[in-house]
Amino acid sequence: MKVVKTIQEVKDAVQVWRAEGQDIALVPTMGFLHNGHKSLMDKARKENDKVVVSIFVNPIQFGPNEDFATYPRDLEHDRAVCEAAGVDLVFAPEKEEMYKDGFCSFVGMNVLTEELCGKSRPCHFQGVCTVVSKLFNIVTPDRAYFGQKDAQQLAIIKRMVLDLNMNVKVIGCPIIREADGLAMSSRNTYLSAEERKAALILSQTLDLAEKMAKEGGYDAKSLLNALKKNIEAEPLARIDYVEAVNVLTMKPVEELSESTLVAMAVYIGKTRLIDNRMILGGEQ
Ligand code: PAF
Repeated sequence: MKVVKTIQEVKDAVQVWRAEGQDIALVPTMGFLHNGHKSLMDKARKENDKVVVSIFVNPIQFGPNEDFATYPRDLEHDRAVCEAAGVDLVFAPEKEEMYKDGFCSFVGMNVLTEELCGKSRPCHFQGVCTVVSKLFNIVTPDRAYFGQKDAQQLAIIKRMVLDLNMNVKVIGCPIIREADGLAMSSRNTYLSAEERKAALILSQTLDLAEKMAKEGGYDAKSLLNALKKNIEAEPLARIDYVEAVNVLTMKPVEELSESTLVAMAVYIGKTRLIDNRMILGGEQ
């Protein structure tokens, strides 16, 4: 496995693989890899000849008061995880390699970015779309793998690929959880022991959402009221949003159906965590 820092080194490797007729996967990450990332790499490994993992904490997807500076980083650990997963190439550029002096081109999107995280994190998805477009241009993958934990991001990237005729298949992979239900996230490392327990309120509230939806008799409003009450009973939790949306459009729904995604962002102390579920078992 090679670890490279320049765009040219990636392009050189890709050129050789293309000449050999190999198909190529990309797993874009911000590093501090956990089993959620590992599941993406494992699927990519099974379905492709070559696997590229990018590790880049993308500054332009963080707001001015967000955690860019403190976002956890550990390239040595990440290198070992990639090596064990059979990755062929790790691309770990510096900020200056991705955003050269004078950089001023961005990929933006309307509609799908207007709700949920897009509301609380203006510019976040423009940063995501821009860096993912750049990675797609650099690696030219046949397939790219993203986690369903970032459900809105996944829907946005699928739409971007469709709208901009990008030649890559976007594959969403299931959320990987700790044994007690907490969705794996690099940001879980910010939690104190007490907050770690309190963070279970997210997955427990999604369990409740699924149970209520399956029982029937609730519209989105009454379901969301019950879910908010459940979260508010946890003293360390502060709701950013809890919504029931259509999984494709990310727009709020009134009635619950197979295409309903319940998505939430909740602060546990100072840490903002997200989680979601297709409450009636539909496809994401
Ligand atoms: O999901 C992430 O880790 C990031 O948003 C991504 C897709 C790697 C872009 O920086």
